[in-house]
Amino acid sequence: MTPSQRSVLFVPGANAKALSKAPSLNADAIIIDLEDAVSPAQKQMARTATLITITQPKWQAGKKAVRVNALHSQWGNGDVLAFAPEMLDALVIPKVESAAMLRDVRRLMAKARLVPGRPAPALWAMIETPRGILNLEDIAANATELGLNCLIIGTNDLAKALRCDGVSNNREALAAHLSRVVLIARQYGLTALDGVYNAFDDAPGFAREAKQGRRFGFDGKSLIHPSQIDAANQVFGPSAAQISRAKAIVRAFALKKNAGKGVINLDGEMIERLHWHSAQTLLDSLPAKGAKPAPRARKKTS
Ligand code: COA
Ligand code: MG
Repeated sequence: MTPSQRSVLFVPGANAKALSKAPSLNADAIIIDLEDAVSPAQKQMARTATLITITQPKWQAGKKAVRVNALHSQWGNGDVLAFAPEMLDALVIPKVESAAMLRDVRRLMAKARLVPGRPAPALWAMIETPRGILNLEDIAANATELGLNCLIIGTNDLAKALRCDGVSNNREALAAHLSRVVLIARQYGLTALDGVYNAFDDAPGFAREAKQGRRFGFDGKSLIHPSQIDAANQVFGPSAAQISRAKAIVRAFALKKNAGKGVINLDGEMIERLHWHSAQTLLDSLPAKGAKPAPRARKKTS
């Protein structure tokens, strides 16, 4: 898994106010969107505005990405050629349905004038169509060759294509697909991001769905509004109780009496080496003591 992608905010590439806020937002990653959130009449303007925004200094977000239009659309090729040479962590590819689609993106990126010494962006794949779900294993199995390191389930598009209700009853109609994305991400070592929660004023609803996504095994959630960042960071970050339990597990295995043991009794619970491994991974993921904490998200202003 790549480091922390608990909160991954979409910022519409045609919204000047939103773009101006992007560098100061403390999401783990920001994806500037040129696809669904941008109307055909705004596509060109959004590309130019996005190119200016991503070169602003002092970004707070750990990662910076751009969602390009599909290659088969009239804007896709131009987007890929424009953003492949930029200092980006990833190009986000919408409606990915096969490894071949990503191979086409890579071929096109190779034609872009890359800056010497600057690595080309990774690919993050949006899985949001029935064929994308069906072919997901083929896509993920080729991840290394494709430079693919993240899967994002696009729940709005998927529910539309399936003609299912992707919202009610804890998203029961999408449960199998949510699980499939996590299953395949885990098998192939990719980051798995849950879909967006549209009702951005409904904080309790957002927290409920984010917690559900975490229970499914997602690493983080894609977001549509800055007000969702802190909640996502909280839900997908380790809780104080989890940190203290992880410390207890690591401490217990370090005791002389437990040296070389594969399994121990910790407070009446069976703890195996695999638990030690998860505990150590969790502790390793915490910011180093003395590291500057990420700034708080701005308050909603209207
Ligand atoms: N990124 C950065 N800033 C955002 C933002 C986002 N995703 N969503 C809202 N903001 C800003 C607004 O521009 C506004 O700024 P202002 O106070 O300077 O006017 C402020 O946050 C408060 O926004 P609010 O009034 O609550 O919402 P809105 O009506 O401006 O926007 C949406 C609501 C849903 C249209 C907007 O959040 C949005 O476009 N989200 C992303 C959509 C997207 O990218 N979809 C594609 C992927 S699913
Ligand atoms: Mg979409």
